[in-house]
Amino acid sequence: MKNFFGSTTPQELIATYGSPLYAYNETILRQRCQEMKNLISYPHFTINYSTKANSNLELLKIIKDEGLNADAMSPGEIHVLLAAGFKPEQIFYISNNVSAEEMQYAIDRNIITSVDSLSQLELFGKINPGGKVAIRFNPGVGAGHHEKVVTGGKKTKFGVSPELIPDVKEILNQYNLKLIGINQHIGSLFMEGDPYIAGVKSLLSICENFTDLEFIDLGGGFGIPYHKQAAEERLNLPELGEKLNTVLTEWVEHYGKTITFKIEPGRYIAAECGILLGTVHAIKENYGKKYIGTDLGFNVLARPVMYDAHHDIEIYKHRTPHTSDEKETVMVVGNICESGDIIAKDRLLPCLAENDMIGVLDAGAYGYCMASNYNNRLRPAEILITNEGKAKLIRRRDTLEDLMRNF
Ligand code: LLP
Repeated sequence: MKNFFGSTTPQELIATYGSPLYAYNETILRQRCQEMKNLISYPHFTINYSTKANSNLELLKIIKDEGLNADAMSPGEIHVLLAAGFKPEQIFYISNNVSAEEMQYAIDRNIITSVDSLSQLELFGKINPGGKVAIRFNPGVGAGHHEKVVTGGKKTKFGVSPELIPDVKEILNQYNLKLIGINQHIGSLFMEGDPYIAGVKSLLSICENFTDLEFIDLGGGFGIPYHKQAAEERLNLPELGEKLNTVLTEWVEHYGKTITFKIEPGRYIAAECGILLGTVHAIKENYGKKYIGTDLGFNVLARPVMYDAHHDIEIYKHRTPHTSDEKETVMVVGNICESGDIIAKDRLLPCLAENDMIGVLDAGAYGYCMASNYNNRLRPAEILITNEGKAKLIRRRDTLEDLMRNF
């Protein structure tokens, strides 16, 4: 990817920080934050970056510096957001099936919490009677790139169904709770805006049942083109923004009270600023298929194995610059002891040799944060290519001692 590595190269980065390695580009991260901030012209609008997509402390500081707020899914995410300098009022805790202690963690820090079932609303009321709360509704509409990431609609664990509004009101009354916010998230990675708008409209009709709302959170899910090498188009943000702006502005007039709207993009902010670098260790042919054996197991990047997700791949030659146009269809695999450990199936790539390096593109979201120590492998380091084009270590690689730390 042009200019991604600034004044350094993938080869130098791997020589300095080891392989595999997550590399992020600050300029791209900032640009994505700004695009989201400009999505609509309605004045009371905040972007809550969805921390789960990438919770590296240094990236969070940049996102905060760009003026975004954040959503958190756990006390751990709240902890890192506070460490990055976010104020409690800039954090929205979207809880799902949590313990009383986890709820209390947010309440103690004055962080607004959303609950997503009647039973959790009741728990909230018991531990914080008279408090302010938000509720995640399921508007009955879903979208997403894989069934595992569709979070709205009739087949998911998320949200309160609108039929339960009378029961919600009863619990609110019983514990004297003030419902100040309503949120939803219908799923992850949409490339067409219309399902999102449909979800927003159904959410707004749910909101009409409540008179004291201060904010409505429309969720994330904004997609990025993972098939850039095949010229996949970007999500048309200006068009989506315009439609959204009209729907929201009209609705507020009708509701008769100023409301803050929030959205929660994770992937859109973080995916494209990240490239996962790895090294080719072995090449072989097994029963007619060619395998490129790398150090990029699914402990490092889970998305291809978990969702059959596609990531474009770039190659960087170890010795001679790549000049031949010759390409071949290969399986790019990792070093984990499972046959499903495949990064790219039947992918047409320039011919590779041992010690060549590869870059898995658009790996900044749901990459490192889903990495594990499976097979007792060490999670990689993360570096940032700053606006000045310099590399900076922003998380060190695990060590063998890290693997022993909890014994
Ligand atoms: N808000 C809520 C309540 C969510 O559950 C999520 C994602 C988001 C916002 C952010 O969604 P985004 O804008 O990033 O699509 N690991 C999967 C994606 C799982 C998304 C889970 N929830 C993947 O790698 O594709």
